[in-house]
Amino acid sequence: MKSLVAYYSRSNITKKLAETIANGVNADIEEIIPKEKYQGKLGFARAGKHAMSEKIIEIEELKFDPADYDVVYIGAPVWAGKVATPTLSYIKQNEGKLNNVRFFMTAGSDDFKKSFKQVEKYSLKPVKTLGLTTKQVKKDEFNLDSFLE
Ligand SMILES: Cc1cc2nc3c(=O)[nH]c(=O)nc-3n(C[C@H](O)[C@H](O)[C@H](O)COP(=O)(O)O)c2cc1C
Repeated sequence: MKSLVAYYSRSNITKKLAETIANGVNADIEEIIPKEKYQGKLGFARAGKHAMSEKIIEIEELKFDPADYDVVYIGAPVWAGKVATPTLSYIKQNEGKLNNVRFFMTAGSDDFKKSFKQVEKYSLKPVKTLGLTTKQVKKDEFNLDSFLE
């Protein structure tokens, strides 16, 4: 199975999970990079504001076409209870091309229901979802067996 992992990460937590997944299934990996950065205090405020309004933003050109893959793993941090805008924008940009999606998220708390539901609006129906807390990822307290099988 040809697999792609596409993720956005502001502070490297989702990145760590994405890289672990990519190693586990021998996938190509696409880091989603927003043209307008979200770093620093101002970036943090902008991130929350953009997430709340589900703003679709511009992202850098992609290396891989998700339509070429049998499985696409998509990852994002939770921002203000929602999917971080760079990942949301990736999903929107690739609407109709994303088959067999497995969707993973990281967040400070462990309530992912709202964010998993949010992507349905963008015609995304993940076949599997995974939500891990920042702490679980940092401390390697997770098992990916059922998510990857
Ligand atoms: C702007 C912003 C908003 C956030 N909102 C939430 C939230 O609503 N709920 C939550 O549990 N965590 C929230 N977080 C925490 C992140 O989801 C969490 O730290 C995540 O693991 C960061 O992943 P990353 O390092 O890949 O960016 C927020 C973080 C940022 C930057």
